[in-house]
Amino acid sequence: MYCTKKITADLTWVGANDRRLAMFEGVYSVPYGVSYNAYLLTDDKTVLFDTVDKAVQDRFFENLTHALAGRPLDYLIVQHMEPDHSAAVQELTQRYPGVQIVCNEKTLTLLNQFFGFDADSRVLLVKEGDTLNTGRHTLNFVMAPMVHWPEVMLTYDSTDKILFSADAFGSFGALNGALFADEVDFDRDYMDEARRYYSNIVGKYGTQVQTLLKKASGIEIEMLCPLHGFVWRKNIQNFVAKYQLWSSYTPEEQGVMIAYASIYGNTENAAEILSCQLRDKGIKTVMFDVSVTPASEIIAAAFQWSHLVFASATYNAGIFVTMESLISDLVAHNIQNRTVAIIENGSWAPKSGGLMRDKLEKCKNINVLDNTLHIKSSLKESQLADISAMADAIVATFESPRTNLPSEGEGVLNPPSSENPIDLNTMTKLTYGLFVLTAQESDKDNGCIIDTVIQVGDSPIRITCGVRKINLTHDMIHRTGEFNLSILTEGTPFRIFEHFGLQSGKNLDKFSEAGNESRTSNGIRYLPQHTNGVISAKVVGSHDCGSHTLFIADVVQAFSVSDEQSVSYHYYTEHIKPKPAITPGSKPGFMCRICGYVHESDTLPADIICPLCNHGAADFVAI
Ligand code: FEO
Repeated sequence: MYCTKKITADLTWVGANDRRLAMFEGVYSVPYGVSYNAYLLTDDKTVLFDTVDKAVQDRFFENLTHALAGRPLDYLIVQHMEPDHSAAVQELTQRYPGVQIVCNEKTLTLLNQFFGFDADSRVLLVKEGDTLNTGRHTLNFVMAPMVHWPEVMLTYDSTDKILFSADAFGSFGALNGALFADEVDFDRDYMDEARRYYSNIVGKYGTQVQTLLKKASGIEIEMLCPLHGFVWRKNIQNFVAKYQLWSSYTPEEQGVMIAYASIYGNTENAAEILSCQLRDKGIKTVMFDVSVTPASEIIAAAFQWSHLVFASATYNAGIFVTMESLISDLVAHNIQNRTVAIIENGSWAPKSGGLMRDKLEKCKNINVLDNTLHIKSSLKESQLADISAMADAIVATFESPRTNLPSEGEGVLNPPSSENPIDLNTMTKLTYGLFVLTAQESDKDNGCIIDTVIQVGDSPIRITCGVRKINLTHDMIHRTGEFNLSILTEGTPFRIFEHFGLQSGKNLDKFSEAGNESRTSNGIRYLPQHTNGVISAKVVGSHDCGSHTLFIADVVQAFSVSDEQSVSYHYYTEHIKPKPAITPGSKPGFMCRICGYVHESDTLPADIICPLCNHGAADFVAI
């Protein structure tokens, strides 16, 4: 039975998923499966973008037959000849004898190498800049050699602004009913697999990916359709930004990845102690036993982190086998721009340190720290100083200079300590405005109060706003990608803050009052009173900030309502919010500084959530 997904009115996903594959390309485990994406455009002409792996070609042909609905197939565009996308080409030509294969010359050579049918007689050769008109759509061909193979070609549909991106922007992981990246929490659930896919499949070809990104920056892209993983129609810039980092071998995070090969646990012991010391010095660390963790995961981590430590036992007068394989793999994947430290173990003829250093020093812009830590069989207490020296040497290479903490008597009211590094009073000195943030999904209107909106760019006009994840408005924006901001004024009565801030839209309709029907052109409500300006914005990215999501959005409409002064958070607390009465004899407790709710107790639970306004422990003050 067919299983297709509609992308636009005339574009359909006709690919298939494989969750039984043990090893992708025979080497990469895919515990969450993999999708092979193929797309059918049904214009005046019918156009298929690539086929699928032979393991799933029965489902693919069912999908294609259904999506064609009895029409002939006019064109097959072969963007990539790797058999996970081209295995079904020969059978396709037998099922659709009239199909013309659109490809470049390198693809034709590979078609003849992989298959035995007469490809030459049915190809339409294209090169960079060529176009194919299929009726309403114009398809533009963009060569992308070595992203991942030499024949790779992308297709840009300039009518609907869709880039069919071949292996670029793909990801491991089967599509579990969702087709678009914005239907899932991609950053939380799929980014690691996307990084593992990129670094292992395309990581070697950073220069070629950079060339492609430069080409892509010159065209308007509203949708990315890769050959693996999700289709992108929102927050495309976020994912492109990851590709910028990965392809330029720029670390995503400052911290240390420690990979160790240990036979009887002694090399592991040294790695653990180093990791503890680095953590004590405030440096993030991750650790991998290279005999246990698949190399593809460690390679992905090496692309993620700024500093790498390799610790290996000596084995057969060389590097321990799993570490040797990992480092060879990493060098083959062109790892660059990292600081590296080395730990070697050897009981009678230590060799692994020098050999690891030789391999890694061949990589571009790799700073291998001078002092290798040498272990003879097991670490001794006298060597703790050597580990400390290595930790210090690593810390010294981190970008942010470390400053001495201020102490009492230096004009500091509450000096930070390691037990209590954050004085919450300091956070209240930041200045904020206050806003009603509104969203709409299906027939539901909702809004909440937020206090963090900042303009961060003027071309395009871009803003950020932080929204608490437990708010309904947060989820609505996450799904719809659109919102309005009504900028509140100093004359706003407390009841507006109560109405939008101290109750949840999950339990009531905050817009049920008659007389407020105001909507902007995106269909979302705004506040016509107590507001001096209204902004409509479209989300282009987001960042997980723990309790909140920081939405990054482009302003699509803005208008002023009055000249009244915007309210600041400070003004609100001083002049609008009623002061809770603390009566003599009242019990000790903690007051929510947002809404005034009092938690009567000697201690404040760390996980407390205010029952009135949903703010956490950080917003409670002792009374
Ligand atoms: Fe999924 Fe390079 O192919």
